Parts: sequence; structure tokens; C-alpha cells
Amino acid sequence: MKIPEKLNLAFLPTPICKIENLSKKLNQNIFIKRDDLTGVEVSGNKIRKLEYSVFQAIKENAEVLITCGGIQSNHARATAMVAAKLGLKSHLVLRSNSVPAPKGNHLLDMLVDAKITYLNENEFQNNLEYEMKKIKKEYEKSGINSYIIPLGASNGIGNFGYYNCMDEIIEYEKINNIIFDTIVCTVGSGGTYSGLFLNNLINNHNRKIIGFNVSDNSDYFKMKIEEIIHESMNLMDVKKEFSKKDIEIIDGYVGRGYALNTSSELEFIKKIAKSEGIILDPVYTGKCFKGMYEEIKKDRFKDSKNILFIHTGGLFGLFPKADEFNF
Ligand SMILES: Cc1ncc(COP(=O)(O)O)c(C=O)c1O
Repeated sequence: MKIPEKLNLAFLPTPICKIENLSKKLNQNIFIKRDDLTGVEVSGNKIRKLEYSVFQAIKENAEVLITCGGIQSNHARATAMVAAKLGLKSHLVLRSNSVPAPKGNHLLDMLVDAKITYLNENEFQNNLEYEMKKIKKEYEKSGINSYIIPLGASNGIGNFGYYNCMDEIIEYEKINNIIFDTIVCTVGSGGTYSGLFLNNLINNHNRKIIGFNVSDNSDYFKMKIEEIIHESMNLMDVKKEFSKKDIEIIDGYVGRGYALNTSSELEFIKKIAKSEGIILDPVYTGKCFKGMYEEIKKDRFKDSKNILFIHTGGLFGLFPKADEFNF
């Protein structure tokens, strides 16, 4: 079984800590893996995937990293930062109906001089792949080699980022004599969930991997995750059967839609900040953590001894939402 090579860009392993107050309140042991601490500029989950994707890009002699996301994309920002660190250029295709004043992640994209193409909602939805290929072709015409990293680096190669993270979790368990029987993560493009799931499957760890989707619906992500896992298995030269039914994505916490918030979601972020000193982000971890909280209250995890929530970052996306909070 072979796992692709990678760069070392993230601060790993990330710490795991128990959130004491909420654990007491809910009578359930909840731990957090602090993947929001993988770095500062490159903080969050995307850097784990980029370690693999960008290794591949460099191997293919790319000078420009092309990728995409929402206007506040953490993944696009992490890619732009990695490009700057490695002396490469970045070209981001961002979803926005206008060219907004730079804030949060978008501001950081501008700071490192990422080239940005803005696509409106409709173009982003329907023509994204075509637009990225068109940009690649333009570079080619100027004799510049570029590399396309798909949305969230969620493909067969980026998947190894969270495959790796699962090894890190198991190692922590051995050292600290604990088992995390349930592992919870946010599902935005699928690659965090799929990496954890694949490692769990191949190595028979038998942990429950639970995702909460923050866009689309669980059926869409089950299909996407299945696809990513097969792509990775091909790269590893491994085949192991699994059923789509084993992919557990809990729907119902998307709220008003991707990157949109309800006041109760924002109140929940305030509540967790106040009681735990942990900052969740409004687009991903806030919704996922709220989902986990609600489901614990409904007794869905009553058989779980130790739940591990993966904090996948997203802090910079909080600041552009400042006006939506009620203080
Ligand atoms: C902060 C944060 N958390 C979670 C996710 C979701 O992870 P994935 O795209 O691997 O499903 C993303 C990106 O989509 C993110 O930026």
C-alpha cells in the first residue's frame, strides 16, 4: 500500500483537548482536535490537503496554483499563502457577484498578491471547471505551467491530508490511553470526512465518523465522498469494499444556506466562546458544532464514550460577519 509523498507545511500534530464545561453540562466527554492551529496564515484543515496537492503541483513543475472557492474561502486563502511561501504564484477563482472591499480571507488573498477572477453565483455554479481550465490554457499560451487544485482540495490526492490526520489521532490514543469512538467533522467539500473515513476503513479502526454538511445535502456528499475514496484507493493500489450507507452525514444544520447564518447560529458561536474560550467560525465549524450539540441533546450519541470534534479552522471568515452579531 503506497501513500503519495507530501510537503511539510503544517504544524503537526495538532493538540487535542477536552472541553470541560460543555462536557459536564451535556454529560458527554467532548474533545477537540485543534486543526485550527495548523498554522496562522495557513490555519485550518486545508493545509493538510495542500501538503499533498502542492507536492504534486511542484512535481509537475507548476509555477502557478489555480484554485477556487467562495469570496471568504479558507481553502483559497491557504493556497495563496502556500504559493507565496514557496515562491509560486496563485490564481483564485472566487464566487462573488461584485468585486467587494477586501475583508477576512479575501483581504489576505490580496495581501499576497493572488490573482483573482470573480465569477458570479450563476457562473460559479455552472462554469467553474471550464473557467479554471480556460485560465490554465491562458497560462500555457504564455509558456507558464500551472496546476489546478479543485474546490477544497477534495480529490483523491488531497484526501491523504485527513488520512494522515487519522493516523495522528490513533497515535494520540495509544499515548494517552483513550479511544475516540466517535469523530465529528464539518463537510463542506467532503475531503476531510473522506480522508478520515478511508483510513478508518482500511485500518479497521471501527470508529464512527460523523459529518455535518454545511451546504447541499447528505445524499450529494455521500456520492462525492464515495468518489474521492475510490480515487484515493486507485492511487494507493488498494481495494476495499464499503457501502455508501456507512458514510454518515447528518443533514439539517445548513440553516439559511452556505455561508449564510441565522441569529441562533451566531448566538451559539457566542455561547461556546463564552463558556469554553473556543472560537468557532460561522460558515463551517459553528454549524457543525451546533449540529453535534443538538444531536447530543437528542441522545443520538448516547453510546459514545468519547467524542472527538475536529476544529477545522475558519477564524478569518468570522470578522466579515461582525455586523451580523447582536451584542
Ligand atoms: C474552516 C473549514 N472547515 C471545514 C471545511 C469543510 O471541509 P471539507 O471541504 O474538507 O469538507 C472547510 C472547507 O470547506 C473549511 O474552510
